[in-house]
Amino acid sequence: AGGTGPAVRRLADWSAADLRELADEYGTPLYVTDLDRVRENATRLRAAFDHEDVRYAVKAHTGRAVLRAVREADLGAECASAGEVVRALDAGFAGEDVQYTAVNPPAGDLDVVLDRWRDGADLTVVAGARDTLHRLRDRGFDGRLAIRVDPGVGAGHHEKVTTGGHAKFGVPYARAADVVADARADFDLVGLHAHAGSGISGDDLAAHRELVARMGDLAREVGDLEFVDVGGGFGVPYRETEPPLDLSAVADATREALGDVDADLAVEPGRYVVADAGVLLTRVNTVKPVDDAGADGTVPVVAGVDAGMTTLLRPAMYDAYHAIRNLTDTRPERPVTVAGPVCETADLFCEGRSLPTPRRDDVLAIGNAGAYGYEMASTYNSRPRPAEVVLEGEGARLARQRETLSALTDLEVEP
Ligand code: LLP
Repeated sequence: AGGTGPAVRRLADWSAADLRELADEYGTPLYVTDLDRVRENATRLRAAFDHEDVRYAVKAHTGRAVLRAVREADLGAECASAGEVVRALDAGFAGEDVQYTAVNPPAGDLDVVLDRWRDGADLTVVAGARDTLHRLRDRGFDGRLAIRVDPGVGAGHHEKVTTGGHAKFGVPYARAADVVADARADFDLVGLHAHAGSGISGDDLAAHRELVARMGDLAREVGDLEFVDVGGGFGVPYRETEPPLDLSAVADATREALGDVDADLAVEPGRYVVADAGVLLTRVNTVKPVDDAGADGTVPVVAGVDAGMTTLLRPAMYDAYHAIRNLTDTRPERPVTVAGPVCETADLFCEGRSLPTPRRDDVLAIGNAGAYGYEMASTYNSRPRPAEVVLEGEGARLARQRETLSALTDLEVEP
């Protein structure tokens, strides 16, 4: 598919010595994001979709250094909130390269985004309900608009991230042509939009193709469009044995399914750009044998670590698998449960996985933490969010300070 770098970077490809050094220098838990890898992934996408619009779904990782790297690779920005729009513009994306995909937009979001639009950012607003059109019109917006359609077909790594086919997102397919016709009266109607879901693997490609084909039909019906955005969701392998997505095959299948349409094809992947560019480092603080010995005499252990569901939510929320590597040593393997410090049973990174026997102070790396990692972190249990280091060339630098305990209470007022 062109581009640079291998299609997938496994956790084993990272230098254990370098990561250990970062953990010692910056403390744990620590997010490490490799900007060179972000560029490689973005460039590979750019090359596979060489004639198409590629907009990075910034929700996957909205850090400034990442946004800049993506912009330099010539991708646009797809934003889900006013906050994301502001951060994308401030990171240097041109207004015309910014898309605001408004899902049930709070009034404050519309106000902030339209302020930026009035200030000259010629961004595109994607509306998924007639109601949103009325609110945009009432606020004096007459700029670039696209209609989000529920294509009636979805896909994804988990039902919680399968958007297509859920009434929450977009106008019903059967009514989309009417909504487009109405919207043309008040706005500069430039596009159609749909998104199947997140984490689409080879198995889901039929659903993706079906979505694209439906959008092609709709585009031919309504005519006069600048783009047809068929969403993001390109999966990445989380298990060491999973093959990477064949990006050029996906690109070809997407073009073919769209058919002959006099408009640009657009895609908006997030995860694909950043997932394997990030790891989470966490230190073992407690090792506890579990009573019942395994059949071969190895006693399973629970390894308590300083990262948890507040640092990386995906395992607790989606039962997501993330590779885990002990950076400290190679010791005989045994069943290991890696558990965080949060008082919830869901706060586990794995259960009974065969891993080198952990010892206190070992540093573990958790793979594919670049997408939906820091972005979904919280301060639950009054635990400040972690720091982030970015790598570029031979260098490492702090991109985000560790949150302080006092930051958690700074906004409190005396009742
Ligand atoms: N476009 C729209 C309209 C979306 O809603 C999303 C993701 C994307 C693009 C980008 O999808 P991606 O290429 O990153 O799969 N927190 C979940 C993923 C939620 C994705 C939500 N929308 C996870 O960690 O798996």
